[in-house]
Amino acid sequence: MKTSVYRFLCCLLLAALSCSVAWADGSPRDVIPLPAHIAVAKGCFNIPAGGLRVHLAAFPALAHAVQQCPLGCSLVSKRAGADVVIDADAGIASPEGYRLVVARKGIKIAAKCEAGAFYALQSLVQMSAGGRVRSIVCCSIADEPRFSWRGLHFDVSRHFRSVEFLKKQIDAMALLKLNVMHLHLTDGAGWRMEIKSYPRLTELAAWRPARTWQEWADGGARYCTRENPEAHGGFYSQQELRELVQYAADRHITVVPEIEMPGHSEEVLAAYPEVSCDGSGLGSSDFCAGKEATFRLLESVLSEVVDVFPSPYIHIGGDEAAKTAWRSCPHCKLRMEQEGLASVEELQSYFICRMERFVNSKGRRIIGWDEILEGGLAPDATVMSWRGVEGGLKAIKAGHDVVMTPGEFYYLDYTQDAPFKEPISIGGYTPLSRAYAYDPADPSISPEQMKHLLGVQANLWSEYIPTDAHAEYMYYPRTFAVAETGWSRAADKDFSRFRANAVALCAFLRDKGYNTFDIANEFGERKESFVVADHLARGCKVTYNLPYSSQWPGAGDATLTDGVQGGWTYLDHKWQGTMRDLDVTIDLGDVKPLHCVTATFMHSEGAWVHVPQKMEVLTSIDGEHFLSAGTAWGYVTNGQPKILLHPFTLLLNVSARFVRIHATKHSRPGAWIFTDEIQIN
Ligand code: ACM
Ligand code: ZN
Repeated sequence: MKTSVYRFLCCLLLAALSCSVAWADGSPRDVIPLPAHIAVAKGCFNIPAGGLRVHLAAFPALAHAVQQCPLGCSLVSKRAGADVVIDADAGIASPEGYRLVVARKGIKIAAKCEAGAFYALQSLVQMSAGGRVRSIVCCSIADEPRFSWRGLHFDVSRHFRSVEFLKKQIDAMALLKLNVMHLHLTDGAGWRMEIKSYPRLTELAAWRPARTWQEWADGGARYCTRENPEAHGGFYSQQELRELVQYAADRHITVVPEIEMPGHSEEVLAAYPEVSCDGSGLGSSDFCAGKEATFRLLESVLSEVVDVFPSPYIHIGGDEAAKTAWRSCPHCKLRMEQEGLASVEELQSYFICRMERFVNSKGRRIIGWDEILEGGLAPDATVMSWRGVEGGLKAIKAGHDVVMTPGEFYYLDYTQDAPFKEPISIGGYTPLSRAYAYDPADPSISPEQMKHLLGVQANLWSEYIPTDAHAEYMYYPRTFAVAETGWSRAADKDFSRFRANAVALCAFLRDKGYNTFDIANEFGERKESFVVADHLARGCKVTYNLPYSSQWPGAGDATLTDGVQGGWTYLDHKWQGTMRDLDVTIDLGDVKPLHCVTATFMHSEGAWVHVPQKMEVLTSIDGEHFLSAGTAWGYVTNGQPKILLHPFTLLLNVSARFVRIHATKHSRPGAWIFTDEIQIN
């Protein structure tokens, strides 16, 4: 009797375990992005050993997708005997929506448009773990996306990627029901599209005598021709791009090309110096906004771009133009005078509006980074909000369409795990949980304004990402989070379910040859940031002998003694920043015996954040007469590219009420000091 109870309990435990193992049970709840409506029924559909026989009663163009399906699908001409029947149903509201009914005897798919039927197939592929699970749970799914723009961005300028690489990522995007591939085709580090009317863009500006972006930047940002034995880089011919566009379209993905202007254009100025302000092509990254030659070049380029890319949107960049040369350029000044423009911001707006008129004349619309709001937004422009969400919200409220891609959640070039164990990155810390947590439907957006929120997109800038394998590592699994936010209902988001599915989907992608991050063995946030540090100075008043930066105040005057320790990035607002020395006096309230002072500083060289050269500690009984208790020295060497958190500790052997800490900043011009807590014991 005892044995059978024990066996029964073991069976229960095993059943519970197998339910909690995502992707093991053929369930619709395993799918990323989670479908909108799921009803699970009794029983399973067993995939026949020979694969699924699919009857296309509609959408004949889906034949290719069916044949490519990893479930071993074959097409059959008769409905009777088919395992899967795909029908058109005009009653389904969304062009991307579908209904999927899995019964013991067979599977029925209905969709209004081919895209929906294609997505139903992707759900089936995920439910069966790409064919590894042969029993699919009986269920009915009614699914449709939350947003129409679900994008992923590829910076092919900083490091060129092959067409094969892009096609491989399109396959993963399709599985995730992502529908926009944003190609950042041009930037200082390389021009990547064949332009027949301006051939030097690829003869010269697509090649550089340096393999990595870092080597290129350190070596003076030079270009070369393909014949140079040191040449690295490349470009896509128009024919290759047309093929890529078709490959994407077959998977219901639109390729949106980006041509940067007016900034980030050093490579164009190198190839055609006549479109720079001083004609030298050196020392500025902005096109001259005064010369007609600039507009002739850009209109010619965009004519070829719209010819190759059928996308309704053309991305015109617009970010981070320094506009410095414009201030003294006679051509730019004349333009401002003639057009009655009061500032370089208005000149930028003139530039963008003029390009918008041109793009509109070709029957397309522009989209640009949120800087295009400055100086007045072009009338029909769509905004891609990257510097936080404010730009996007402002544009929505002004009646413009917006795609949300806020840096602190959706910049995949930020590290996804503890920096000490990760490859060098641009900084920041965006683990999967953070990417998943973002919701673009800010409460300040009215229901009427919601139609302007087109959707979401993740971006991968590739300055520090030289290889394809590294790029995939950064994309997956965080791209899954963007896919789920873009598609699934907000109320259904649940990180623990999602994470379990993400672990399994990563394993699936790895099997398919993708190099994903190992989410199952994530280290996670800095452990100290979860515990309140208790010490003698906790809660004590801090007097700032030098002020902290209003840009990075942390929690204000309390930051350094509130017990709160920072995480892997100062973007968590638990760190306090200053561009001066750190010079504070802490009042412990009473004279106390003290044995040590520890302050933790951040090193993040890419962000100009450096540990101090030294930290001197002085103590006082009365707050007026201070005696030096000694100095602790910093030892992070220059050129250390990783983020490090460096505690400076000084042992004391005094009794005092006041403790003054003076940390001398690093000698690099523009260096910051970031401090999370000063602990005194
Ligand atoms: C951007 O990250 N500069 C758009
Ligand atoms: Zn100029």
